[in-house]
Amino acid sequence: MSRLDSFIRRLEAQRTVLNWAVAAIQGRNGLVLELGLGNGRTYDHLRALLPDRDIHVFELNPQPNPSSMPPAHLLIVGDMAQTLPAFEKQHGAAAVLIHVDVTTGVPEQDAITFAWLPAHAAALAMTGAIVLSGWALEHDQLEAVALPQEVPEGRYFAYRRVA
Ligand SMILES: C[S@@+](CC[C@H](N)C(=O)[O-])C[C@H]1O[C@@H](n2cnc3c(N)ncnc32)[C@H](O)[C@@H]1O
Repeated sequence: MSRLDSFIRRLEAQRTVLNWAVAAIQGRNGLVLELGLGNGRTYDHLRALLPDRDIHVFELNPQPNPSSMPPAHLLIVGDMAQTLPAFEKQHGAAAVLIHVDVTTGVPEQDAITFAWLPAHAAALAMTGAIVLSGWALEHDQLEAVALPQEVPEGRYFAYRRVA
């Protein structure tokens, strides 16, 4: 598969998964967290789907498309290894949806580079919350959930926070 095909499939999978997750949290209160602003594409999609919710966005170096810059009070700038535990102290397990979109670009490397991340995602997620990720998250309190059939196996991962 060409890199272009692979990129298109990744974006299609992201859209399908975000749409699915937003439907899954409908009617539930809780914060929405976007981990990795990047260009702001998935943030922009989430805010279009959830116009009435505050979406807290975590990013080391915010340089999105200017149309997708989150409001300052919802943008948490810094290394998530530090900003996630600080947010956790302030808010506790308050998130109903977390989208993890940080990657090194090498799937096998992500779980190593971001080994600290699954525990923070689990700690921030309320019971029953949905956690989405582009790479597999290993944590006792994150139970794998089946994604819509059209998402190719291993392209995206979804979890439900168990008690
Ligand atoms: C794949 S991009 C996100 C793409 C974005 N969701 C989109 O749709 O445009 C990953 C982002 O995570 C950020 N990032 C990587 N490691 C980080 C860390 N330790 N703390 C905070 N942000 C980090 C990078 O700066 C990058 O912007």
